Amino acid sequence: MSILIINIKELIQVRENNVTIVKGPDMKTLPTIKNAYLIIEHDTIVEYGPMSDYVDYQAEEVIDAKGKMVLPAWCDSHTHIVYAGDRSQEFVDRINGLSYEEIAERGGGILNSAEVLQNTSEEDLYQQSLKRLNRVMQLGTGAVEIKSGYGLTVEAELKMLRVIKRLKKESLATIKTTLLAAHAVPKEFKDNKKGFVDLVVAEMIPEVAQSKLADYIDVFCEKGYFDLEDTERILTAGKEYGLIPKIHVNQFNAFGGVALAVKHKALSVDHLEEMRAEDIEALKNSTTMPVALPSCSYFLSIPYSPARQIIDAGLPLALATDYNPGSTPSGNMNFVVSTACIKLRMTPEEAMNAATINGAYAMGISNQYGSICRGKKANLIITKEIESYNNLPYAFGDNLIDKVIISGKVLD
Ligand code: NIG
Ligand code: FE
Repeated sequence: MSILIINIKELIQVRENNVTIVKGPDMKTLPTIKNAYLIIEHDTIVEYGPMSDYVDYQAEEVIDAKGKMVLPAWCDSHTHIVYAGDRSQEFVDRINGLSYEEIAERGGGILNSAEVLQNTSEEDLYQQSLKRLNRVMQLGTGAVEIKSGYGLTVEAELKMLRVIKRLKKESLATIKTTLLAAHAVPKEFKDNKKGFVDLVVAEMIPEVAQSKLADYIDVFCEKGYFDLEDTERILTAGKEYGLIPKIHVNQFNAFGGVALAVKHKALSVDHLEEMRAEDIEALKNSTTMPVALPSCSYFLSIPYSPARQIIDAGLPLALATDYNPGSTPSGNMNFVVSTACIKLRMTPEEAMNAATINGAYAMGISNQYGSICRGKKANLIITKEIESYNNLPYAFGDNLIDKVIISGKVLD
């Protein structure tokens, strides 16, 4: 199968293949080609350039993109889209005055989702999750990380991970899998958190790693969940089995989790709503990607990650959705990009770099995804007719996507 796209008003995020991360002041640049063409063969971008260089090419499908722009599909490096049911009642409880923490303390929150998931069949869980995945692909996401973490037992975690494996096999989207065994302390371990961490270290991690069901290891490093000592034990055990850390840290409290993650060479540190000067310092000269999740801040009415401080310190930043039933029941990367501009004061160029190439880096796939580059995977968004790419974040809540191409196929 080959596709030729012609008359592209502007081809956005054109990068050499050695660019796998964009940091600091460079995030303000977004290289483009005006009036361009692009050729896809099978699932790969094979050629592109200005229309003036175009020489006749016989493609099976030709798309005339006059007035439209083409950019890499979004790379969403942090989601929990495999879950069962929803928590819309807790949403109403919060409107009526309860906090996210109070709901969790009453046994709601993650424990609520875990109970529902444990009682949902693997087939049903797959169908519910597939629907969400298809929806986010329609919204322009081509590569996505999915976490476990609503199992909280060995058996239910394995069920979640098998569902992710099946999604990986059957979907056009590229999926990376993270074992988030330590997401909350299960009821049965209420007074024995150490016992649960022992179970994670001694059983879950070895079993999951040996069955090759995960690429990364995550921990919810937070007061009332898992402290620095628990986090250190879990990251160390994960690394022994080849699972690279990508952790939830500094969502409500900052107490040293960022430095710990950097020490363990985490691929990413995610949330960062609460950041201290020493957290920024710890990230300097590291290979760890800071990841902001602005729709979580929006939905929970908590602070937004200090993107300006992070980028102005010369660091890179990625943006992701955090799609999950409790803190972010939305997987819309377009909304994330808008919110990053509006609330985190990122420029459209910074936000688009953060949601493409840097998102790909935070999944360990930026050599193949996240920019327009010969040899990279053909995961693309074709916009509707727009004046400038600034209109994408500017028209918040709107959908300016005309077509999405994932793995070289135009979605219906
Ligand atoms: O990333 N913070 C921890 N985990 C999820 C939310 C989990 C939930 O409420 O179900 C998050 O926000
Ligand atoms: Fe999360």
